[in-house]
Amino acid sequence: MSIVSPFRLALEPEAFQLLGGCTEILRRLSDMRDFFADEQAVERVLTSDDPVIYEFWKGECESSGGGVSYGLTRIHPGTVGREYHMTKGHFHTKDGDEIYVVVEGRGLLLLQTREGEGRTVEMTPGHMVYVPTGWAHRTVNTGDAALIFLSIWPPGVGHDYGTVARYGFPQLVVQGADGPMVVRSPSFQGGLMG
Ligand code: F6R
Ligand code: ZN
Repeated sequence: MSIVSPFRLALEPEAFQLLGGCTEILRRLSDMRDFFADEQAVERVLTSDDPVIYEFWKGECESSGGGVSYGLTRIHPGTVGREYHMTKGHFHTKDGDEIYVVVEGRGLLLLQTREGEGRTVEMTPGHMVYVPTGWAHRTVNTGDAALIFLSIWPPGVGHDYGTVARYGFPQLVVQGADGPMVVRSPSFQGGLMG
């Protein structure tokens, strides 16, 4: 393991893009067919366009202290059908907590356990959210502008997207007449996942 030097980084996509050793991941709508609830709406959009729903940049500091992984995510505003743009969401495959820090925009963090217990936490600039071990997490942009947040987690936890693709989350965040609404997902079965 190498010891890295101290460094400072602006919480802006451009700064992460320029940082050597950072990986860029781009998620287009076509990558998210199994994640949005309204399959017809997904296919309708895809007939003419394949928009980027979100991007994230991640890096890892290795050190004798165990190191740390970090990432910056930008979710573009918009909806697919009535459902707001969001990340795929995942369980960590090994025990590992995570901290999210909201930089700009507004949204909701959806959390669920493998037993199907769900929680919803508001994401607003200047706030952090703690994601305990065992809770899958998905971020939803409910605003008119990009939602940008920093995440920090222990290296080597691994990300399980398949369970979320198969079971979904108990909550859907949809556009209502008076703004965002959290509703129960009609396709969510509950029970023990994965
Ligand atoms: C890392 C983490 C975040 C997400 C990022 C993209 O453990 O939770 O950095 O990886 O917000 O979301 P996903 O990974 O669900 O595509
Ligand atoms: Zn995570």
